Amino acid sequence: MTTSEAAAWKAKKQQREAFLARLAHAHGTGAKESGMGRVMRIRLARKGDGAAIARLAELAIGDYQGGADPEGLGRVIDREGGRPVVPFGQALAFVAVEGEEVVGLAYVAPPVQLLKDFAEQLSEATQSAIARKLCALELLAVDASVQGRGIGTTLLTEVEEVLRSRASWGVIAKVTGGDRVSQWYTARGYYVGDTGMPFVLKNRVPLICSGEPGVRIAVKSLRDVPVSGTGRESWQKRSR
Ligand SMILES: CC(C)(COP(=O)(O)OP(=O)(O)OC[C@H]1O[C@@H](n2cnc3c(N)ncnc32)[C@H](O)[C@@H]1OP(=O)(O)O)[C@@H](O)C(=O)NCCC(=O)NCCS
Repeated sequence: MTTSEAAAWKAKKQQREAFLARLAHAHGTGAKESGMGRVMRIRLARKGDGAAIARLAELAIGDYQGGADPEGLGRVIDREGGRPVVPFGQALAFVAVEGEEVVGLAYVAPPVQLLKDFAEQLSEATQSAIARKLCALELLAVDASVQGRGIGTTLLTEVEEVLRSRASWGVIAKVTGGDRVSQWYTARGYYVGDTGMPFVLKNRVPLICSGEPGVRIAVKSLRDVPVSGTGRESWQKRSR
């Protein structure tokens, strides 16, 4: 092994260890006050959480149906736990728990639609790099009775920390919840595009996240790269 290969291997090992450490944290070691004297913690979902996950997934998608299947996701979690196998890799389902009750959900996965759209232009190696480095926040929801107490922010922060620890480039979310939710994402560092507009991720092959009626695409870089643009938005990757 050459010196540079050894350095690359060591860097990968450190990233992996940091990622596993964050996941262990999300397994429930970190607990915090979530208002009104209640203690909330974030952990990976596990078998048995399926019904709560189906309920929260339904809340997350609201009026937007777009192929989502909350009941199906609940069954997958009950069968496989919080790291289900999906096309191009593994998803992660994080839940916020108060007492024994699951009150919030963040579900992230490789950007499956984007990878399918560009399957013909990208080599398999590039597809798997993108699947590892770019993350789609598919679902985010907090039960109505406990909204506004910081649980959604804590879930989002935890997801971003876990993704940073595995050196992800960034997060893409589809915002389906109207202006208030768009503002919520903007306040948390996301660039939120116009309704129905696509978003272009600048890559060797530019990747277009296709727009859909009623949906805004929100993106956040996790590598201190500003996200900006107008019209067909752009997200300039840092040149190395
Ligand atoms: C959007 C959502 C995840 C935010 O989670 P949350 O735990 O309520 O949010 P937090 O308590 O962390 O954030 C508090 C902020 O959100 C605002 N807020 C409270 N309820 C809200 C709601 N229903 N929708 C949007 N923003 C809301 C508060 O005014 C507060 O604003 P501030 O930061 O300017 O003070 C949650 O409200 C939700 O699940 N909404 C329904 C499902 C949904 O739209 N999901 C997103 C799909 S893209």
